[in-house]
Amino acid sequence: MEAIDLLVHNAAHVVTCAGPPGLRRGEQMRNVAAVPGGAVAVRAGRVLAVGPEAALRRRYAPAAELDAGGGAVLPGLVDPHTHVVYAGDRVAEFERRIAGATYQEIMAAGGGIASTARATRVADVERLVAETRRRLDQMLRLGTTTAESKTGYGLETAAELRQLEATALLDASHPIDLVPTFLGAHAVPAEYAGRGDDYLELVVKEMLPAAARWYAGSPFAAAGTPLFVDVFCERGAFDVPQSRRVLEAARTHGLPLKAHVDEFSALGGLAMALELGAVSVDHLDVTGPEGIAMLAASETVGVLIPTVPFNLGGAHFADARAMVDAGAAIALTTDINPGSAPCPSLPLAMAIACRYQRLLPTEALLAVTINAAHAVGLGARVGSLEPGKLADLIVLEMADWRYLVYEFGGNPVRSVVKRGQVV
Ligand code: NIG
Ligand code: FE
Repeated sequence: MEAIDLLVHNAAHVVTCAGPPGLRRGEQMRNVAAVPGGAVAVRAGRVLAVGPEAALRRRYAPAAELDAGGGAVLPGLVDPHTHVVYAGDRVAEFERRIAGATYQEIMAAGGGIASTARATRVADVERLVAETRRRLDQMLRLGTTTAESKTGYGLETAAELRQLEATALLDASHPIDLVPTFLGAHAVPAEYAGRGDDYLELVVKEMLPAAARWYAGSPFAAAGTPLFVDVFCERGAFDVPQSRRVLEAARTHGLPLKAHVDEFSALGGLAMALELGAVSVDHLDVTGPEGIAMLAASETVGVLIPTVPFNLGGAHFADARAMVDAGAAIALTTDINPGSAPCPSLPLAMAIACRYQRLLPTEALLAVTINAAHAVGLGARVGSLEPGKLADLIVLEMADWRYLVYEFGGNPVRSVVKRGQVV
């Protein structure tokens, strides 16, 4: 008998999400590879084996056991696009929006991202950590075990670095593993109003090199976790040439790319980001057939954000159905942030995607597991329950894992295991 640290047993099914290496597309999105009556053997924080409980009990002597209570076991969820590190809130703007102001009107009037930047600039690292920890706790309870985390509320070098520092401190002290992204080009800060190109000069010449230096000496680099560089390509933020400039500069630092594109307007940022080999392109709410075909022909993941149109009361969602049918690789995210989506729940994002974007439950699940893992550069580490991957898993209350999307507004997650520890 081989000694192991943990045996998760008495599961109705272990939904492994195992499959061919690389991104899942098209028909592959219909198979979540469930093992009935399965159990999971864990050693040193990693999955050692998944299989029928009786077979694992013959081979392994567990030091501890977790009884799944007849519920379904799934991989820990991966949230591939968040703005979770910030100070303050935008409750007052929320109320203004309900009364009729649009997200873009509020942004143009100096609210929106700029208002969170004002609050974040005056917050020290301790406060950023404390305010963000509450949100990460909620995400964890709802099944998220890995999340990307963007800067973009500092919009000046020192404050952007404080956001990165807070991300590293939270990664080290909270069960959720974080993947940092530098998003200095999120908005033009007030002091640069009307001088977007001058701000961009600062981003490219000072902030980005500082972020790259910070990363090189950070625990993320030591752990092989990437630092991404992202840009908000949108009317009122950065146009296509400006966005290209940021992403090309990122490439000279050897950093992988992401881009916010086609959220409110299709400016051409999608084609540009695909040309530059971005790992993901995010939002895509107004992407049409031509863009979908380009995405399908690429190795880039389309990260879709149903929580944003939901939260903004919009009726228009990214055409996820057409994307999957065309063979594009998609992921889903909460985009948790204080303005467009104050939402910690991936199960809710999935539930909206199933209803308004016509994703099947299997497609929604693979979009928050293996494809989301690839969208943050960690496809070999997390996103499925396969030998060698991190033992990140969730146990649901119910035997049928589709309760994750069938019910909504509650929390179907009974237990969360992160790196082999019940958290
Ligand atoms: O992904 N689109 C740009 N950035 C965020 C919104 C951030 C905010 O409103 O503070 C997003 O939706
Ligand atoms: Fe975003």
